[in-house]
Order: sequence, then C-alpha cells, then structure tokens
Amino acid sequence: MYEQFYGLKERPFSLSPDPKFFYLSEVHREAIEHLHYALIQKEGFVLLTGDVGIGKTTICRVLLEKYQKQYKVALVLNPMLSEEELLKYIVQDFGIISSGQTKKELIDDLNKFLLEQHALGRACILIIDEAQNLTVELLEQIRLLSNLETEKEKLIQIILIGQAELNIKLSQLEQLNQRISVRYHLKPLKYKEVTSYIYHRLTVAGASGGITFTKGAMKQIYKFSKGIPRLINLICDRALLAGYTSKTTRITKALVNRAAKSLGKEGEITYVPTAFFKRRMVMALAMASFLLGVALSFTFHDWLSHMIPYRLYKINTAKSNVLQTKDAVPIKKIKKSTENKPKMMYFYSINVEAYQSKEEAVARAKALKNAGYETFITKVKIPKVGTWYRVLIGKFENKRDALEEEKRLKKEFPEAWTIRVQRGGI
Ligand SMILES: Nc1ncnc2c1ncn2[C@@H]1O[C@H](COP(=O)(O)OP(=O)(O)OP(=O)(O)O)[C@@H](O)[C@H]1O
Ligand SMILES: [Mg+2]
Repeated sequence: MYEQFYGLKERPFSLSPDPKFFYLSEVHREAIEHLHYALIQKEGFVLLTGDVGIGKTTICRVLLEKYQKQYKVALVLNPMLSEEELLKYIVQDFGIISSGQTKKELIDDLNKFLLEQHALGRACILIIDEAQNLTVELLEQIRLLSNLETEKEKLIQIILIGQAELNIKLSQLEQLNQRISVRYHLKPLKYKEVTSYIYHRLTVAGASGGITFTKGAMKQIYKFSKGIPRLINLICDRALLAGYTSKTTRITKALVNRAAKSLGKEGEITYVPTAFFKRRMVMALAMASFLLGVALSFTFHDWLSHMIPYRLYKINTAKSNVLQTKDAVPIKKIKKSTENKPKMMYFYSINVEAYQSKEEAVARAKALKNAGYETFITKVKIPKVGTWYRVLIGKFENKRDALEEEKRLKKEFPEAWTIRVQRGGI
C-alpha cells in the first residue's frame, strides 16, 4: 500500500517469519549458537523457549535454511496431531517413502532411514515448533524416537521449540527432561537493538536511506513493544502507514503514538499467561520458597553453570583453571588492566574465543599476544559437555571496566563477552 511512496520493494514489517528479514540480535545469535553447539556435540535433545512473538518460528526457518544443505532436516510446525499422524508427518518431511500405517511400521521405516543416513555420515535433525502444544503422550513418543541410536551415538537430534510453559510440561516428564542438555530462553531485544532491527528490516525491504525514525519514535516503539519483534513489526507497519497518510518519510514520536493508538491499548500488548500456566505458576511459587533454602548452599553462579552447559549468560563462574600461555606477557598492556593491584579471589576478563583443543587455544592466544593483546587461557570443565579452553583478553578487578573493554573488543571480536575468572590457577 505505502511501498511505492517510500520506494520499497515490499512491506518491511510483515508478520510472517521470513528468514530473509532475519536480524541477528544478541539473543538470536546466542540461541543459534547453542543449538548449533548441541548438534555438533550430538546432544540428542535441545530446548529453545521464548515468549509469544519473540522469533521462535523465525529461528526454525533460519535453521532449516542453514542446515538443509548439510543435514537431513524435518520440521514440524504444528504438532497438534495424533501419535500416528506425527510419525507420518516426520517420515514424510524427511522424504522417506513409506507405506507404514501403524506406529511400529512407521518407526521401523524411520529407523531404517536414520541408519542409512548414519552410514552416509549425514546427521538427521528433527525440529518441532510450538512444542508447548504437544501432549504428554506425544512428548513421550518423541523421547522414544531419541532412543533410536547406534551403540555409540544418537541417530537423531531433536530440537524442541516453544513457549515458556513447555518447561512446565517437561517437568512432568522427568525421563525426557533429564535428557535435555542444552536449553536457551530467548529474551526481548534491547533498546539499541530495536533501532538496528528496524533499519535492518527497512534495508532488506529495499529502503535506501530515505526513511528515518526519530529518536523519540524509537523510544516509543521500544516502550510499546518491550523489544518483542512481532510487536515492533505491528507498530512500525502502522507508523509507516501513518507517515504515508501524512506524506512524510520522517517517522516521529507523534506518528508512532498514532500507530499505537490504532492498535488499541496504546500498543501495549502484553503476554497473557494461559490458565494452565497460571495454575502452574502458583505451584512454582510454592516450590520456589522451598528451593530458596536449598539455594543458600549453592551459589547463583554455580547454579547457572550447571543449568547452562555452554555460554548462555555473560557470567562465568565455573571454577576454571587459568593457564597463562607460557610467554603471554603483554606487549601492549590494556589501559585499565589492574594486574599490579592487590589480588582478589577473582578477576574479570573478556572471553573472545573458545576451543576444545588446548593446542588451538594456545596458538590463538599467542597470535593475539603478538598482535599486542594481554592474553590468557582458561580451562573450563562443563558438566556433560566437556572441557573448553577459553581465550581471554585483559584482567580487570572491576566488572564495569571489563564491560567497557568488551565493548571496544566487540568491533574486532563480535563474540566477545565478559566473564569472571577464579584466580586460583594462575
Ligand atoms: N531476529 C529476527 N529478525 C527479524 N525478524 C524477526 C526476528 N525475530 C522475530 N522476527 C519477526 O517477528 C515476528 C514474529 O516472529 P515469530 O513468528 O518467529 O515469533 P514466535 O516466537 O514464533 O511467535 P509465537 O510464539 O506466536 O509462535 C515475525 O514477523 C518475524 O519476522
Ligand atoms: Mg511461532
């Protein structure tokens, strides 16, 4: 409707989960990293959760694009099916020619296919979106699928994607729950990311710089959407429409307000928990007070490092050994490094890369040292995941200084993140 006016090839804020528009925000990137990591490790089960409209289906589509050349992928977008229907759907989506009708026949055909693919060295991935809609029986059926394995490894990697209440459903199925080794919960975009997200989508839709959103407009969009991509799309689409009717390509706060008003409730669309979720929340609160006592003997950080095997939060507390590369004496010291100050039990540093091979990590740390960075390696053992060697830059006793340095390093190392390091091993 307004595309021509703005010189766009298509609508930039459509509500479809089109991977072409995918914006790699910090959380979306971390989510994909987690899933990818689990697949490489052949972890069997992975869980991705997030609120309504946060981008779960979009990630499914991105994964499908990313993986289908290399792996065999089946994607179930709506699992409200019977057990036989679900199996048939999976069999068909993998492209298996099967005349199976019963559960046993379908599972036999699937198993045969998985073994063939395994022999060809090709991994098979099953992605299930909207997994919060799976019944307990279907979840049990999916657990049984994950039992298809050779003596050495799983034949199928399963990614369950759904809303937060999926966690509650899974808690009823201890056998399945325990098998999920990697979990990630998507959070909304931050304010700065909302701005980049909007311009990214405009550019993909063909904008060539003619459309501007004022700072005030951006702030309002963030306020109304709380960083949820679907809500950002809704508001931006209406704001562009409002701009079009006012014949302006400059989207202001007033236009955003008008757009939000036209969406009702001033655009403040919030997530309403389902009745099931509400009931469970009451139980969860009771449970939480009990767990509080237990938590006193467990630090929050230890808990995180156990719950989240790979990197999820930018806090690392796993008791890591710090191996200083033999000749990692800094050539160009980072300004804020506090090496000579009295030593605390821990310090902050910036993790720029991580390797499973110590040799690779050492080689990389040396190269960075030669480039003038103060480098270290920490060895971290993550339960059920294995040992990783992290390449770190800088030592800071103050987290704020480390975060500032992280910001600077991000230009060269987009993956950079601040961690806390136990001093013990130095
Ligand atoms: N990272 C992203 N980059 C670009 N667009 C995104 C991103 N994340 C979400 N969106 C957009 O937000 C909208 C909602 O995304 P999506 O349908 O994937 O959400 P969802 O989490 O699956 O929602 P639901 O819980 O309702 O299934 C879509 O228009 C999608 O294009
Ligand atoms: Mg979805």
